[in-house]
Formats: sequence, structure tokens, C-alpha cells
Amino acid sequence: MSTRPTLTTSAGAPVADNQNAMTAGPRGPVLLQDYQLIEKLAHQNRERIPERVVHAKGWGAFGTLTVTSDVTAYSKAKLFAEVGKQTDLLIRFSTVAGELGAADAERDVRGFAVKFYTEEGNWDLVGNNTPVFFIRDPYKFPDFIHTQKRHPRSNLRSPTAMWDFWSLSPESLHQVTILMSDRGLPTDVRHVNGYGSHTFSLINAGGERFWVKFHFKTLQGHRHWTNEEASAVVGRTRESTQEDLFQAIEQGDYPKWRLCIQVMPEADAEKTPYNPFDLTKVWPHGDYPLIEVGIVELNRNADNYFAEIEQAAFSPSNVVPGIGFSPDKMLQARIFSYADAHRYRLGTHYEALPVNRPKCPVHHYHKDGAMRFFANMPNPDAYYEPNSFDGPAQDPAFREPPLKISGDADRYDHRRGNDDFSQPRALFRLFDAAQRQRLFGNVAGAMAGVPAEIVERQCRLFDQVHPDYGRGVRQALAAAARAAQAAE
Ligand code: NDP
Ligand code: HEM
Repeated sequence: MSTRPTLTTSAGAPVADNQNAMTAGPRGPVLLQDYQLIEKLAHQNRERIPERVVHAKGWGAFGTLTVTSDVTAYSKAKLFAEVGKQTDLLIRFSTVAGELGAADAERDVRGFAVKFYTEEGNWDLVGNNTPVFFIRDPYKFPDFIHTQKRHPRSNLRSPTAMWDFWSLSPESLHQVTILMSDRGLPTDVRHVNGYGSHTFSLINAGGERFWVKFHFKTLQGHRHWTNEEASAVVGRTRESTQEDLFQAIEQGDYPKWRLCIQVMPEADAEKTPYNPFDLTKVWPHGDYPLIEVGIVELNRNADNYFAEIEQAAFSPSNVVPGIGFSPDKMLQARIFSYADAHRYRLGTHYEALPVNRPKCPVHHYHKDGAMRFFANMPNPDAYYEPNSFDGPAQDPAFREPPLKISGDADRYDHRRGNDDFSQPRALFRLFDAAQRQRLFGNVAGAMAGVPAEIVERQCRLFDQVHPDYGRGVRQALAAAARAAQAAE
């Protein structure tokens, strides 16, 4: 007798035949009463959910954070409580612009989203492999993303839209320079750094606030492809990053990162020559050195990619006691945007899905809605708050210290008096001659077909970063034009 379990319908009834649809006669039409056929087709029609509006293509795995140094002077967060402490985590990496089926080896920012399952709730650090971003005001996010996605008429990606927007937005120069540098096209995600990018806050047991930036330094080293190498890779496989990450973990070659922080005393924010809450700026290491926190290791692949990676929902709004927000306007907008996206993409109770469910008790008064499946409170009479039935109640011990803010509500011009050039210049100066040549070539390649006035406007921005930058791009553009002419 077979030891295989009997196939059933989703209602648990045994299925007698899973090969032949029920028909009127051997050649006849199928019968409406073949509800097993209808169930299979109906389920299939619902196998896809909307893809993420950005960062649709992704790769993920589970692992741990092991604390290696004592940072309790800065934060009372339980996951940092003692050296040696381990916390489970999930990382989902991604590209930003491509759709779910996009090729992996594309020049694009890599998402680096980490969910720490702490004993006081989930902490999501939803960062990128870059320390800065293209814009500093969230008002521009939908416009920026439109330039990265498809043109409404041609349905093609549009270099004209990208460079038009960037050349009109000098705050993008820092991130554009990183994107067009070697690190803009990593071979995979084991060989990238991760950055929380925004400034967040840490709060210690004494109620002191510090500003903080988070860095994940790859212990695998950096690896990248040239555009030409990447084209050959995409010709061979569109899934190079998935293959690399999945196979490394299957083979026990676990990727690791050093989690570090930069810490700024609360009062310093008034003194830095740059706005420390501006997402287009880094804090120079010379001013705020890296402090090691621990080691992140990825050591387990998902068993079900859809359930555990595609349905993972990360949100910058998920912080835990001892870790908080900052006035960064971009962060503030993201605190709203992600949970809103999850309710649309995954449904009301997305937080209760196994991959998103906190590994600590959860007590709230949300009720009902689609797919409501979790149990009532232990006392079902306590379904509102305040109540006299021992329902969960607030605990003022978790209050954050008040944050001083001031100023008139207005729409302030974020470009006025803002230096968009010094930090890209510091980056440009780090590049050796060969790196600069590849940067110039990558920019010129990405500008193919862009109208001359937009190219010139962008080159004038490069001139202001460094005269060699503007000159180098112009020379690369001229060389590309000569090569195109020769090929005609
Ligand atoms: P440092 O010399 O102390 O640090 C330079 C940093 O640049 C390192 O973190 C290095 O990362 C990183 N880096 C090197 N090449 C690239 C590249 N192609 N793309 C992106 N990052 C790269 O200098 P400062 O702290 O004074 O910063 C100088 C410039 O370095 C900044 O303007 C910024 O553009 C860039 N940078 C600074 C960071 C910061 O937090 N201060 C973080 C990342 C970049 P690694 O150590 O992994 O090699
Ligand atoms: C994904 C909005 C800026 C990193 C997303 C999603 C939205 C969004 C709606 C899809 C979420 C989902 O469906 O699961 C925004 C807005 C921004 C912004 C409104 C600015 C105002 C940023 C910045 C970073 C970033 C600055 C990095 C520092 C990511 C990552 C993902 C993502 C990594 C994918 C998360 C995952 O793997 O599921 N963003 N974003 N975003 N965003 Fe942003």
C-alpha cells in the first residue's frame, strides 16, 4: 500500500482523479459540477499579487545578528542588550526600477531591507546599498520613480526622462555618481554594503537621545561588473543574483556583514556644516567614526519563496524601544507610505502572515476585515479600550523623550543654500584614474539618445563637482559619437 498522503480539495475531501476532467462522454464538454477543476483554475487565477510598485525584483534569506560590542550607552533596544546576544532576521535585497521578471545584472541601486525579529517587536531597517538617495524631499518621490519606470507611450525605459529629472535636480548628483561608478553594478548582493541611509535616533536607558546612521559592511569584499560583462551575463542568465545567493547559502558559504553605527550627540545636529537629516548627504567618517555593533550572517534559504520573500512586508515605521525616527522628511514620508502599500499589496492583516509576524506576544484592538483569522483576546469582552476586563493597556515606560522642534509651517525651498557638490567631489576624489574612466563611460553610455540640451545641463553640474568630471564625460560622449558614426 502507498504511504503517500491522499490528495484532497482545499476543504479536505479526498480527490479520486487529478488527471482527467469530468466530461459528458469521452469527447464531450466539461461539466460545471467538476468543482475540483473549477477550484484549480480559480486558484491559479489568484496566484499573483500586485508586484511591489518599486523594488519588485528581489532575493532574500534568513539569518542572525550576533552582538559583538556593547552599545548600551546609546540604546536600550533589547536586541543590543548584551555581547553575544543573537536575534533572528530576514534580509530582502532588490533592484529598484525593474519589474518582477527583470534581469538581475542591471545597473541600479540594490535594496537592502532587514527585518530584525526582536523580543519587543519587529525592527525593519529598509535601506539600500548606497548611503544617500536621489532626492531629499518626499514630494518628488513619485515624479522620480516615474522617470525610472516605463514611458507612457513607448512603454520603454527613458534615458531622456532620467537625465532630464536628474539635471533639474542637483541634489541627485551624489547618488547618480555612485550609481554610475563601479558599485552601481554589483555582481551579486553578497558583495555589497548596506546602509540604513537616513538618520535615525537611539535612546538609552537614561532617556538620552543620539542621532545614528547604520552601516552593513560586506565581509565578502566588493565585486562589480562592467556594462559589457553584465550584458554577457544577462545573455547567459537573467537570475544571476538569485543563483549566487541561493547557492552560496545552500553550500554553507554564509555571507556576513559587519553592522556598524555612526553616532552623533543630539545637540551636534545644530552644529554640522550640512543638515544631518538630509538624505543626500553622508556624515564623514572622520567626524563620526564607525562603531561596530555586531555581525549579520545569512544562513537559511526560504522554503517557500512566495510566502516568505514575496509576502515579506518591510516598513520604516517598524521601530522598537531604544530606536526611533528623526526629522528627515524622506523618512517621515516613508513612515506612512510602506504600511499603506502593504495594506494594498497584501491585505489588512499582512502583519499576521508568518514571515511578518513578530516573534513576541502581540496584543492590539484591530478587528475584523478580509482574512481575519487570528484568535480573539483571551477575554473576548475586552474588545475596546479602555475596558474593565483586563485587556492590554499602554505602558508609559516606553515613552520617548520629547523632541524639540521649532519653525513656521511653510514649503521651504530645500535647494536654497544647500551644497550639492562637496560630497560628490569627495567621492570623485576617491576614484583612481581607471575608476574615473569607467564612470565617464557609464554616464556617456546611459545618455545615449538624450537631447543635447539635457546632456549639456547635466555636464554643467558635473563641472561643478570637479572640472575633470565634466571634461571626462564630454570626452566619453564625443568618443561614443565617433564610434557610432564609424559603425554607420
Ligand atoms: P572615507 O574615505 O572615510 O570613506 C569613503 C567611503 O566610500 C567608504 O565607506 C567606502 O566604502 C566608500 N566607497 C568607496 N568607493 C565607493 C563607491 N564607488 N561608491 C560608493 N561608496 C564608495 O570618506 P568620508 O567618510 O569622508 O566620505 C567621502 C565620500 O565617501 C562621501 O562623500 C561619500 O560619497 C562616500 N561614502 C561615505 C560614507 C560615509 O558614511 N561617510 C559611506 C559610503 C560612501 P568601503 O569602506 O566599503 O570601501
Ligand atoms: C520599497 C516607497 C524611498 C528602500 C518601497 C515600496 C514603496 C516605497 C511604496 C514598496 C513596498 C511594498 O510594496 O512592499 C518609498 C517612498 C520613498 C522611498 C515614498 C521616499 C519618500 C526609499 C529610500 C530607500 C528605500 C530612501 C532606501 C534608503 C526601499 C526598499 C524597498 C522599498 C529596500 C523594498 C523593500 C522590500 O524588499 O520589500 N518603497 N520609498 N526607499 N523601498 Fe522605498
